[in-house]
Amino acid sequence: MSTQQSLPETVEAKGPLTRVMQKALESQRPSEQSFPEYRSFIQHHYDGLAGKLTSVSGFLTGHAILAGLVLKAPAFDLRGCKRILDAGCGNGRHVKYMLRRADADAQIHAFDLSQRMLKRAHRRLKSDRVCYVSADLTRLPYADGYFDAIVCGWVLEHLPDPRPGLRELTRILQPGGKLLLMTTEDTFAGAMCSNLWHCRTYNRTELRNSCEECGLIWQRQLYFTKLHRVFGLGGIIVELRRP
Ligand SMILES: C[S@@+](CC[C@H](N)C(=O)[O-])C[C@H]1O[C@@H](n2cnc3c(N)ncnc32)[C@H](O)[C@@H]1O
Repeated sequence: MSTQQSLPETVEAKGPLTRVMQKALESQRPSEQSFPEYRSFIQHHYDGLAGKLTSVSGFLTGHAILAGLVLKAPAFDLRGCKRILDAGCGNGRHVKYMLRRADADAQIHAFDLSQRMLKRAHRRLKSDRVCYVSADLTRLPYADGYFDAIVCGWVLEHLPDPRPGLRELTRILQPGGKLLLMTTEDTFAGAMCSNLWHCRTYNRTELRNSCEECGLIWQRQLYFTKLHRVFGLGGIIVELRRP
């Protein structure tokens, strides 16, 4: 893993033409529909074939393996955390590593909008240690300050406005707790992903402002490898903290 405190120049120094071309490539669905309509579309999307294919696509893009690099020291260290949540767990890619790396007495929770994805995760991981719940990121069924560590990977791009989701994550995180947020960036690669998965992309600076507005500290940026960092690939991966 590679870390960085400041924003990378490659992302910040984009010309207007590049921005326009990326916007043209991006899926417009999240901004075209009302949130309830879009959320219902996304739920069906993941309930169906697209959700079924996430294990294949995760293997082909390398994300299934790269997830293992992020969920361990010196990146996002789960040791010592006692209540851990995978927010929008999908097929359980991150839960798999939580089960391996979290303390034996840590509680592991996971939620997703799609019941089918929850079933797939349960079937794939075959562990009774995980507490699965069907929920929407903008209205979570957990008590204030319940978790000391949360992983939210490639889910926030399914919210037209990130702030309701970020506020919920902040609310359920205990003071001093940490959040690993991974999301699609406004790059060419990100715009193509957005088309495939019908999601939006985020500008790093704007996302940072939204996180701070919702009470989170932008602690450090992570990259899967040095190559990802140099070429600005792999999306936005950031460790945030509730003060
Ligand atoms: C690209 S998958 C990522 C899954 C998993 N976090 C991973 O990294 O493999 C996105 C997941 O987010 C879920 N999702 C989308 N919008 C959501 C929402 N509003 N609330 C909860 N989950 C949502 C989808 O059902 C899907 O399982």
